[in-house]
Amino acid sequence: MPPTRRQVLHTLAATSVFPLPLGAAAEGNAQASSNKLRIGLITDIHKDIIHDADARLTAFIDAMLAEKEKVDAIMQLGDFCIPKPVNRDFLAIFNRFPGPKYHVLGNHDMDGGFKREQAVAFLGMPARYYSFDLGGCHFIVLDGNDMPPDWKGGYPAYLAADQVAWLEKDLAATQLNTFIISHQSLEHPSCIANQAEVRKLIAAARTAEGKPKVAACFNGHWHIDHARRIDGIPYVHLNSASYFWMGSEYRSERLEPELAKKFPHVSSTAPYAKPLFTVLEIDPAAGKFSLRAAPGEWLKPDPAELHYSNPVIEPDWIRPEIRAVDSARV
Ligand SMILES: [Fe+2]
Repeated sequence: MPPTRRQVLHTLAATSVFPLPLGAAAEGNAQASSNKLRIGLITDIHKDIIHDADARLTAFIDAMLAEKEKVDAIMQLGDFCIPKPVNRDFLAIFNRFPGPKYHVLGNHDMDGGFKREQAVAFLGMPARYYSFDLGGCHFIVLDGNDMPPDWKGGYPAYLAADQVAWLEKDLAATQLNTFIISHQSLEHPSCIANQAEVRKLIAAARTAEGKPKVAACFNGHWHIDHARRIDGIPYVHLNSASYFWMGSEYRSERLEPELAKKFPHVSSTAPYAKPLFTVLEIDPAAGKFSLRAAPGEWLKPDPAELHYSNPVIEPDWIRPEIRAVDSARV
């Protein structure tokens, strides 16, 4: 079957380009207007699941430190590692980056009975949720691990009232183009339970002139390649650096027996042959930002070969790559 026009567009585009809602005119952008801001993004490495997490994180840091990248900052969007002492070496790889480094709390970062406060201290985060200004833009990092009032078990995905109130205040205080980052999704209906309430706040965040402040929302957690525009705002899933989780019913052994014994959950995943990560580039002068595509392949057998299906994940989103997002897709 010949590729559709949409597929061709995906193949040709190496980056996703989006407008900054406040353009170059946002207060604070004057001095930054000639400088592009570049942030390396990686998510869901899962040190405690995948056998080669160190190599994947090393590949990311090496790429971000390389002369041709010259990123200003790096951020990981959660499911990084649990805060046990043996994982200090893993964190040290991330900390090789000399510039600003940011973390987002994932649900698996508290596996093994750890508390959120322990993960925050281990990673050196300023708080569970926080915000900062960089390069004339505002960034809000959320903690999607709050307990919903009607919690029935499993990993909670929620923003409690105190965090929602803080978010509203934080959004009101900024006059800059704003990016919101969470581990869990504010877009997928099966994720953050009060996402509609939170999205309403995000869409309502406007300047005195009525211009929207939020440029985009990014999340990890789902290990999928998917984006959707809601209320005019792109909600973008960043794919995992490591694998797509299938579950034990799709077990397939890909590692040598010794290694498989040490990392028993790898057989329940569909690993990506190489680590996935991307670069967010914000160009205040042009009033645009972009996310770079990252090609990749499966470590076979892939989910389709194993007849994987999931009622809440479309087959098109299950990919060992980060695709460019064009206007046809969001
Ligand atoms: Fe997660």
